[in-house]
Amino acid sequence: MQIVNLKLLNFRNYDSLNLTFSLNNNLIYGNNGTGKTNLVEAIYVLALTKSFRGSLDNVLIMDGKNLTRISGTIKDNVIHDYQIIVSNDGKIVKIDKKTKAKLSEYISKINVIMFSPDDLRFIKDSPKLRREKVNLDISQLDNEYLKILSLYNKILKQRNAYLKTMYLNSNNSSEYLKILTDKLINYGIILTGKRKSFFTKLNVVIKDVYKNITGIDDVSIKYLSNYEDYDYEKLNEIYKNCYKKDLINGKTTFGIHHDDYIFILKDKPFKDFASEGQQKNAIIAYKLAEIVIFKEIKNTCPILILDDLFSELDSEKITNILNLLNNDNIQTFITTTEIDLVSQDIKNKSKIFYCDNGKIKEEVQ
Ligand SMILES: Nc1ncnc2c1ncn2[C@@H]1O[C@H](COP(=O)(O)OP(=O)(O)OP(=O)(O)O)[C@@H](O)[C@H]1O
Ligand SMILES: [Mg+2]
Repeated sequence: MQIVNLKLLNFRNYDSLNLTFSLNNNLIYGNNGTGKTNLVEAIYVLALTKSFRGSLDNVLIMDGKNLTRISGTIKDNVIHDYQIIVSNDGKIVKIDKKTKAKLSEYISKINVIMFSPDDLRFIKDSPKLRREKVNLDISQLDNEYLKILSLYNKILKQRNAYLKTMYLNSNNSSEYLKILTDKLINYGIILTGKRKSFFTKLNVVIKDVYKNITGIDDVSIKYLSNYEDYDYEKLNEIYKNCYKKDLINGKTTFGIHHDDYIFILKDKPFKDFASEGQQKNAIIAYKLAEIVIFKEIKNTCPILILDDLFSELDSEKITNILNLLNNDNIQTFITTTEIDLVSQDIKNKSKIFYCDNGKIKEEVQ
């Protein structure tokens, strides 16, 4: 899958932009604060409808304007036009000019895998952030995951709200709570299965990729599942045992919304002992492993974005990564302030764009 063309209107520091990309490597270079990350962010938002920066949607709109529009032509087996319009009133998404009523009808169509320096937080930060990332990753692979996750979250909200009313009014029916708990368990079991299968597949690949980048073996990701291998009866019993705690807390204290994922190197959790560089390599290995899984499951290669890669890794690792990618027919976007760090070989294979404060010029080689 490749993005052939991108048009922006009032997106961050771009008032208007119209670019045609290489279907292989694209290099975007320029000084700090000129709009490199903004450009790749636009591609990411076009695919996933929100930014990896995790900020509110309206910061995407150029200061002083009312709306922003991102339009892109995506080539897979066939060509489709995608568009997203963000205004203070919300978001509109369109495929081939037709508005989609639900974001879930749009999200898993364009597949993007992105590495940004911010991704280190995946290892260091809270489980909440990891859950959000993994949810997005699996959603891109499996549209049903996204639908069931939305249902799970809806029921979770209802259950939490009902627990609060039960605490205040002991006459409330526990029958209704049982209905909500049943639904929660059933959706939770499906999501647990999908998470397990994702990490089983990922772990088969990530070891090799990490080894190809660093020469070291033995990396994996451990899925810390709350449902483990429990069946409905066992889970029902756990929820019953949690009832008093849930009531006092006014929320569902047990469930897959507390799952976590940790990187392991030689049986030890990364975050306790791995160096910054090792952590970066592990994150990149995770992303590259995802590409392999995409190819397997969806029979297409996602678009790969590597933001600020050169400031993050030494040149040997970067060469290893680029060599891995060059073996594949994959569209990449690499941003950097240091074009001189890019080898002539890679430059020859790339379309090069110079970024200068909201303007982008394609360099003729
Ligand atoms: N909503 C907005 N409206 C106008 N300008 C914006 C908006 N949001 C961000 N900017 C501007 O975009 C610029 C930052 O762009 P970006 O993050 O893409 O830089 P960069 O080229 O990736 O820099 P670095 O090399 O430091 O990562 C800043 O000058 C910022 O003020
Ligand atoms: Mg940047």
